[in-house]
Amino acid sequence: MKKIFPCIIGLGYVGLPLFVSLKKKFKVIGYDISKTRVKELKKYEDRNKEFNRNDLKLKNRSLITSDHIDIKNSNFYIVTVPTPIKKNKLPDLRHIKSSFNIISKYIKQGDIVFLESTVYPGTTLEICKKIINRKKKNIDFFIGYSSERINPGDKIHNIKNIPKVVSIDSNKKIISTVKNVYKNISKRIVFTKKINEAELSKLIENTQRDLNIGLMNEIMILCEKAKLDFNEVIRLANTKWNFLNFKPGLVGGHCLPVDPYYLSYYAKKLKFNTKITLAARKTNNFMEQFILKQVILELKKLESYKKKKITVMGLTYKSNVPDHRNSLAVNIYRKLKKINKNITAYDPIIENSFIKENNINNNLKEIMKSEVFIILVKHKQIVQAIKFAKKKKKIIIDPLSLI
Ligand SMILES: NC(=O)c1ccc[n+]([C@@H]2O[C@H](COP(=O)([O-])OP(=O)(O)OC[C@H]3O[C@@H](n4cnc5c(N)ncnc54)[C@H](O)[C@@H]3O)[C@@H](O)[C@H]2O)c1
Repeated sequence: MKKIFPCIIGLGYVGLPLFVSLKKKFKVIGYDISKTRVKELKKYEDRNKEFNRNDLKLKNRSLITSDHIDIKNSNFYIVTVPTPIKKNKLPDLRHIKSSFNIISKYIKQGDIVFLESTVYPGTTLEICKKIINRKKKNIDFFIGYSSERINPGDKIHNIKNIPKVVSIDSNKKIISTVKNVYKNISKRIVFTKKINEAELSKLIENTQRDLNIGLMNEIMILCEKAKLDFNEVIRLANTKWNFLNFKPGLVGGHCLPVDPYYLSYYAKKLKFNTKITLAARKTNNFMEQFILKQVILELKKLESYKKKKITVMGLTYKSNVPDHRNSLAVNIYRKLKKINKNITAYDPIIENSFIKENNINNNLKEIMKSEVFIILVKHKQIVQAIKFAKKKKKIIIDPLSLI
């Protein structure tokens, strides 16, 4: 078997863990278009706070680079670049297209390419494969798709123990090379032949979650209108064996607010107007307004609340991750600040660039002097701080019953 020489294209939340796993076994090239990200990683700094200095030390002559010429000797390419939506909510594949344009400069006879970004069915075969074919008409290469299920901040479901769907329609020799790479990433590989089915499976995983959270959000809004205790209603429902224990929440990040649009776009291409796929989107976005209103109502109950020292606890899109993409907590904080300039925020793990740009002071001693705490995200540091605040009989506003 030919020596495997992998490269990862895009070293973000998804790409960096793959790079870290593969460098234990192979010489790996980690390529990212962002010079800042590469500079930080070369200094062993991960702004996503998933890895420490030791994890990032390079082994087996691996390399991190922002110069794409460095991938020229690779023969196993894994693409993990962002797949956002445009303003009009349609899929934005510009990062995917630019990565495959780069790969087509260097790809050689017999090389293997895997797409891991979340995409709608047909992207791998009808867009990515065609980009390479257009530029390199005379070479035979192999292309596959492997969905990424990594869950940043989750210490239980980690990259090694999450089963990995890997799809490639090829011969035994290629499948065995693919196994030799992916077995270093996940303990359980689920092989499938039809790439379009693997692409679709990823979209439905996230759409299902978006819908389930959306239903809980809707019930929470209903309970407020009906003046019923949402938590009590859920406690009762939960005693049934098949009631699913989803929680209401502020849905954000790069996946749930995006992937249902990819799914609905795919259905529309097939002239099928889905009725359920996007049903949770409006409700989940409306939670920003709903929670803001709840918080303001609670604040107004306090005597001269505008003079009180108030802190919003947590700004990222979910607990224990620094990612603030599409974070509704950030929007709520900004709106609260318009009402009362003195409101501050505490988020000890949010990306440093956000802290600088938004003038956040994370000095816990200072923060603990606040009289009112509004909990929006449940980082473990926030749980600790609130325990202390409760002891000191501070006012706690916890609209999502997080703590
Ligand atoms: N973040 C998650 O938890 C998660 C989980 C499962 C799947 N996904 C999917 O994985 C994909 C990547 O998401 P992410 O969260 O890792 O994004 P990210 O923004 O954290 O990282 C992407 C990286 O790709 C780089 N990049 C962009 N264009 C490039 C190019 N042309 N060449 C090289 N590098 C390029 C960016 O600079 C960035 O560092 C998306 O499709 C996302 O939906 C993400």
